Amino acid sequence: MPRRSADINVMVRAAERAGRALIRDFGEVDNLQVSKKGPGDFVSTADLKAEETVKYELEKARPTFGFLMEESGTTSGCDNSHVWIVDPLDGTTNFLHGLPHFCVSIGLARDNEVIAGVIFDPIKDEVFWAERGIGAFVNSRRLRVSGRNRIDEAILAIGVPFKLHDDETVDLFIEQLRPIMKQTAGVRRYGAAALDLAYVAAGRYDGYWENGLNPWDVAAGILIVREAGGFVTDLTGQRYKLGAKNILATNDGLHHKLSELLVRKPG
Ligand code: IPD
Ligand code: CA
Ligand code: CA
Repeated sequence: MPRRSADINVMVRAAERAGRALIRDFGEVDNLQVSKKGPGDFVSTADLKAEETVKYELEKARPTFGFLMEESGTTSGCDNSHVWIVDPLDGTTNFLHGLPHFCVSIGLARDNEVIAGVIFDPIKDEVFWAERGIGAFVNSRRLRVSGRNRIDEAILAIGVPFKLHDDETVDLFIEQLRPIMKQTAGVRRYGAAALDLAYVAAGRYDGYWENGLNPWDVAAGILIVREAGGFVTDLTGQRYKLGAKNILATNDGLHHKLSELLVRKPG
């Protein structure tokens, strides 16, 4: 494993501190499942606390950088080219229901391009990280996307629209899912976009697509996939840019085939 840069060390420390606190709170969620009030408010507090922890650690180390954070939004720094993009708890619904699959995700963008990313899964104690031009790793092991190029052998992660979605969003999703269901070896909906991307980088999934994401869901993950040799684009195959609303991450051999299956054909 190459030596981690100072930026990565700062990011890992922040993610681990927030992640360890989330684990303690996750223990409490189990008790609250059976209470009348449920764990809702408690989880919102845990989420906010995790964001504060991450912000405190990052700001202490790099006081001039700006922030884009899920809970507290944008804070500009005096260095306006560097921005931390943070999802303090990705997989909130899992966390709320006592499902042990969630993470802390931190990306560092320079001039709107992600140059470093860390995703920490505190339950499995896995730190996925990447730096532009250096490679992608889980803990100290190098990551590589899967080599599968047969669609009928591929397992894909997906996001399923939920709550408040209009009919058009639901119809589009079902239209996209139909050929994927028919042609692939199966789909999985684990419920944490950042980990979906990390798992593509690790070759655990052969691909992943989702509509309607935000930059904090994917900032770290897109770099980790790319540094593991994968492709991250929108569904039409254009290089994914932060802020794009849909994402396809996969390997070289499957990218074109998946993009073709996912794009709505006219008529
Ligand atoms: C959500 C998760 C989920 C994805 C949603 C995201 P949150 O993030 O990543 O997998 O399907 O689109 O909003 O709310 O748990 O941080
Ligand atoms: Ca998220
Ligand atoms: Ca979140």
